[in-house]
Amino acid sequence: MTKTKTTPAQALLAWYDRHRRVLPWRAPKGRRADPYHVWLSEIMLQQTTVQAVASYYRKFLERWPTVEALAAAPLDEVLAAWAGLGYYARARNLHKCANVVAKERGGKFPEVAAELKTLPGIGDYTAGAIAAIAFDQPEAAMDANAERVVARLFAMNEPLPGGKPRLLALGRTLVPQKRAGDFAQAMMDLGSAICTIKRPACQNCPLAEGCVARAKGIAETLPLKTPKAARPLKRGAAFVAIKDGAVLLVKRPEKGLLAGMLEPPLGPWTEKFPARDAALAQAPFAAEWKKLPGLVRHGFTHFELEIEVWRAEVDGRGKPGHDGKGKWVAREKLSDVALPTVMRKIITHALPDDGPLFA
Ligand code: ADE
Repeated sequence: MTKTKTTPAQALLAWYDRHRRVLPWRAPKGRRADPYHVWLSEIMLQQTTVQAVASYYRKFLERWPTVEALAAAPLDEVLAAWAGLGYYARARNLHKCANVVAKERGGKFPEVAAELKTLPGIGDYTAGAIAAIAFDQPEAAMDANAERVVARLFAMNEPLPGGKPRLLALGRTLVPQKRAGDFAQAMMDLGSAICTIKRPACQNCPLAEGCVARAKGIAETLPLKTPKAARPLKRGAAFVAIKDGAVLLVKRPEKGLLAGMLEPPLGPWTEKFPARDAALAQAPFAAEWKKLPGLVRHGFTHFELEIEVWRAEVDGRGKPGHDGKGKWVAREKLSDVALPTVMRKIITHALPDDGPLFA
């Protein structure tokens, strides 16, 4: 009798059974994870590392153990709990999606990728990941780790992101009919532990035998990437007003970058820093504003930001919020409100260093 050749999926699943990572959202071996857990983790893992996501994931599940509980939460509380994870449109869509699932679908996520894709915040990748991991549908879930594995396995030399559809098509050819969820997660684990960006450990790889890039000696060079355009630099001034240890915060507009999040009053972001008089004209009210030494830098997807920070201590009398719209938030409460990372950096820069401000 002839021995049938081991498929890449079989080799990878055997490896996964021995080396799978323990992750907070992952079901124990042989079990299927709760679709709510899978969805929540996959939304958080879009554009964010496993390491950064773990504590947020635990916090969200503790506070909102079901999709119904999350749907019932006020959006501001969800944004506050998301603060620090970045890409805040994800949090708004998370809340929207929870409402659709809780109110229009009896609390149940659809099982099929095409239907999952109709929900807010769920694109091709996430639909495939949820369908595979939560429902064992034979779908591919090509995160950056899986993309690297597939690009190397087939020595796919079309640069990314343009080559993504081709990579997805190649990835789909590997997906097994059974254990598709384990297969998707195995690809991610292989990319994280073995098929790494630099110095891949090909000698330990269960797919080494069939890997074209390895045979050609070009594994480390793949996937190719189209160089990104340089990001423009924007500059502005921030005003940190302090009253009895509390900081004045205002809400950003409900549309656009960091929508609905909080910030200390900020001037416009332009090519240059404002001159002293222009900066003072941007301040929320007249006070003894002092410009602090140093700058705060932050990278957004489409631009870099440099902020100079002005601080004023104001006394209890008078000083309104900002057009009556601001609120004073006590130092101890700053980590409980919807302050994005760039704003946390600005406040940290302005406040005296007596212990960590943000957990
Ligand atoms: N990246 C995206 N989804 C993931 C998952 N479920 N496990 C590990 N890394 C991931």
